[in-house]
Amino acid sequence: MGTDDPVDDDLASLVEQAAERLRSVRRVCCMTGAGVSAESGVPTFRGVGGLWQGRRPETLATPEAFDADPEEVWRFYLWRRELLKECKPNPGHYALADLERIVPEFTLVTQNVDGLHPQAGSREVFALHGDIWIDRCTRCGHEARATGDDLTSIPRCGACGAMARPGVVWFGEVLPTDVLSGAQEAVARCEIMLVVGTSSVVQPAASLADWARANGASVIEINPEATPLTASADLAIRAPSGRVLPAIVQQLA
Ligand code: OAD
Repeated sequence: MGTDDPVDDDLASLVEQAAERLRSVRRVCCMTGAGVSAESGVPTFRGVGGLWQGRRPETLATPEAFDADPEEVWRFYLWRRELLKECKPNPGHYALADLERIVPEFTLVTQNVDGLHPQAGSREVFALHGDIWIDRCTRCGHEARATGDDLTSIPRCGACGAMARPGVVWFGEVLPTDVLSGAQEAVARCEIMLVVGTSSVVQPAASLADWARANGASVIEINPEATPLTASADLAIRAPSGRVLPAIVQQLA
């Protein structure tokens, strides 16, 4: 299949190579980052227009920041919930849900807190950094799902009345043990690790691809930009995931 556009031809060839590799294995693990939701209108963190441009993560996404000024931290998360209310899964999310049905053993690991993977139909999702729609009590740990109906007041615990916090993992916090170990198990077992839409700079998520490779897996990266992972990836497809993932699924279906 050729087109008049050499860029499109290159992309089609890379997509075919990725599909060929995926066709020949049983166990695939996919790690996603903010980039997979970019085409849904969810801002990424780094780079132009990213959430960390003009904001300091240490004043908004650490336990110390929340202790010092919970209102300020909540304002940031309520604003992000407001943005997310308008966002729907994009073709990249749907393609990953399709892959879960096509590949015999497929596990999705995400750094995203936006909930768009389950919304698109992905079932087995290890959300390493939590879920922005969860309110977790700072006193009793009770968790409740926020509806987005009231994004003006700071959520309080339905069980004990204390202030809640967003159910996400902040810098300096440990990842939930069950989520991390489930993800690590999938990474250790996989034959191909897909790495989609992440700058691959935040640990421990960033090291999972290295770990997969150390266990014999090949790594396929999908990202319009180069990252610290690109040079060591077996295949790097420099294009948006909302375009690449559905094209791969089309080849496999
Ligand atoms: P980043 O904002 O660091 O990186 C987003 C990546 O997505 C970049 O490499 C972009 O090139 C890429 N990208 C942009 N548009 C894309 C598209 N259409 N298709 C595919 N890729 C695209 O986001 P993460 O790597 O997810 O943690 O950031 C990791 C963690 O750092 C986040 O979970 C968050 C953040 O601080 C916490 O808040 C704890």
